[in-house]
Amino acid sequence: MISKEDIAKKFASQLEKISNQDLREKVVETWYAACKQGGWESFEEIERMPFTMLTDTHGVNFIEHTIAVTEGAYALGKSQVATYKKLPYEIDFDRLVAGGILHDVGKLVETIKDGKGGFVKSLTGKCTRHPISGTVLADRAGLDDKTLNTIACHAKEGEGRPQVIETVLIHQADFATFNPLVMLNGGKLIT
Ligand SMILES: [Fe+2]
Repeated sequence: MISKEDIAKKFASQLEKISNQDLREKVVETWYAACKQGGWESFEEIERMPFTMLTDTHGVNFIEHTIAVTEGAYALGKSQVATYKKLPYEIDFDRLVAGGILHDVGKLVETIKDGKGGFVKSLTGKCTRHPISGTVLADRAGLDDKTLNTIACHAKEGEGRPQVIETVLIHQADFATFNPLVMLNGGKLIT
């Protein structure tokens, strides 16, 4: 069974960027509940799961993706803060990092082991895509509405919907990791 300590260790360098201890704990709690509900027993198991079933990920796993998106979104926010004379909106970096770690947490209940070393979509996944199931998990852990927005609206569910700035940054970082693979697999990425 994956413990809260295992989760805190896996995302240690991202979690330490969250200054609010209560938020840090709720992020870990959400991940813990998702691992439990999804029946994940170890991080080795989770690291075998591709981060998406929509395209060949060329071995990029779910943990690598989650960390790359979190760090990417963080860097996008920091670059604006460092470059603009006046930032037209405020970026909440605690929320940004929390949302990065949690944006795909619903995939832990959307995708399950098929018992043959592979992965399939679960009934939960068929009924509610990961932005929805992730939002439910985070809500149960007590996360606030704006953090829920980063999960609920980071993908196509958020198209045309009101979003906090942190959702926008997470969405862009997410698709910066997803689109190149789709293009590569479709012969449209110039290499
Ligand atoms: Fe993602």
